[in-house]
Amino acid sequence: MLLALAGLKGGTGRTTLAVALAAEAHARGRRTLLVDLDPRGDAHAWSRSAAENPTPPALALPGSAPGQAERLRALSFGHDLTVVDTPSDPEILAAVLEVAELALIPCRPSPLDVWAAVDVAQACLDARRLNPRLQFAMVPNAVDARTTLSAALPRDLRTMGLPVLDVAIARRVAHAEAMAHGSTASLDAPGSAAGQDVAELFDAVEALQAHCTTARLYH
Ligand SMILES: Nc1ncnc2c1ncn2[C@@H]1O[C@H](COP(=O)(O)OP(=O)(O)OP(=O)(O)O)[C@@H](O)[C@H]1O
Ligand SMILES: [Mg+2]
Repeated sequence: MLLALAGLKGGTGRTTLAVALAAEAHARGRRTLLVDLDPRGDAHAWSRSAAENPTPPALALPGSAPGQAERLRALSFGHDLTVVDTPSDPEILAAVLEVAELALIPCRPSPLDVWAAVDVAQACLDARRLNPRLQFAMVPNAVDARTTLSAALPRDLRTMGLPVLDVAIARRVAHAEAMAHGSTASLDAPGSAAGQDVAELFDAVEALQAHCTTARLYH
């Protein structure tokens, strides 16, 4: 499956979740590829700093050069999961949405993030005209259940008609700490709260993948 971490606003958590999901998939024995479309190359830099850790192969493919969508599709063949990290760039987003099967849209508990997420959802709906099998869902990220904004986030997104995963990623410093030494929260400490969040997010991705495969078989 070709999975894109999508967004049109900086700092929502795309790179954090892209590397976490790719590492979790790799650790569970899935044939995994991490592709970094962001010219900043954060995910690719993480992968290079992760040389000592059991992390998946990674590729930097910055930008939206002609043929980018086809390149991504070709790369995804032979992998169980291809995780694509994207920058906040509408052209690059449009290119990846042409071929992605699932777009996850991290959304922090802030109106600014919610407004941006609505625009990403619209981009996904537009992309479905060319790529009808594209699924998309919001992932509440960096939530703190003690705050009103965090507690209300999934409900607020659903009220706007947006699909929301049942899994939320809590705000935990373990994600940044792990990134600093080329790891992820779930590789460092699978039983930790941050590690479990990543594991549950990966389970949700696989459940959606199974659903997509079944839908393709019967349609
Ligand atoms: N669940 C979380 N808990 C705590 N910190 C988080 C969480 N998710 C992301 N962060 C932090 O938020 C910041 C932005 O995250 P990240 O770089 O993954 O977002 P991005 O969408 O890829 O941003 P960019 O626009 O730079 O590509 C980073 O400092 C990261 O460590
Ligand atoms: Mg990023």
